[in-house]
Amino acid sequence: MSYLCPAMKRIISPSMLSADFGHLYRDTQMVNASAAGWIHIDVMDGVFVPNISFGFPVLKAIRRATDKMLDVHLMIVEPEKYIERFARDGAGLITVHFEATDDLDVCLNLMREYGVQTGVSIRPATPVSVLEPWLDRLDMVLIMSVEPGFGGQSFIPGSLDKIRELRSMIDARSLDTLIEVDGGISVANARDLFDAGANVLVAGAAVFGAPDPTAEIEKMLRA
Ligand code: DX5
Ligand code: ZN
Repeated sequence: MSYLCPAMKRIISPSMLSADFGHLYRDTQMVNASAAGWIHIDVMDGVFVPNISFGFPVLKAIRRATDKMLDVHLMIVEPEKYIERFARDGAGLITVHFEATDDLDVCLNLMREYGVQTGVSIRPATPVSVLEPWLDRLDMVLIMSVEPGFGGQSFIPGSLDKIRELRSMIDARSLDTLIEVDGGISVANARDLFDAGANVLVAGAAVFGAPDPTAEIEKMLRA
């Protein structure tokens, strides 16, 4: 797809979940100086996923350290309760999980009300077709390419077909909805993901585990 449409938007969104929390400011400065367009913030509640990450104070600290857009991925149940707070504390885009709420309409309305871009994510086992009724209200769809909950897992290859299917749905409707992919992404698969129609690649371990994280981001972007 990126062959046929070279203008298609490409963004790298490094996941701060893999940053060194003892040096959060330093690691945010690294991202600031890199070609990364956004910064990915993974919020986990220990209920929707079997892990707990961080919340508002960390989001605020990163907000103070960067001008880049904060791409906040909420892996929490009943996200509608917290959208206002995440928006106030610095999110530029909020993604909720389709599986985590009975009130997707309410979530999207709250995101619009508080001036953040709208995102919805689906787990590996959830088909992209469930998003059909909401697609024209979404700035972004996040396809999880690992089970949400932990960084450093292996990419699930079947995710590529989901990206292609979603790209067809979006293009058939002439929408601008971005496709983000998250989990197990590195220089090794970035090209395939962009070619399948992805716009935004999240990478945690591959960036922060690299000897030269800035160069790694650049390589992914130009894959
Ligand atoms: C996992 C998170 C991811 C994670 C990706 O639930 O949503 O954003 O940080 O980490 P890597 O790139 O290491 O797979
Ligand atoms: Zn994430």
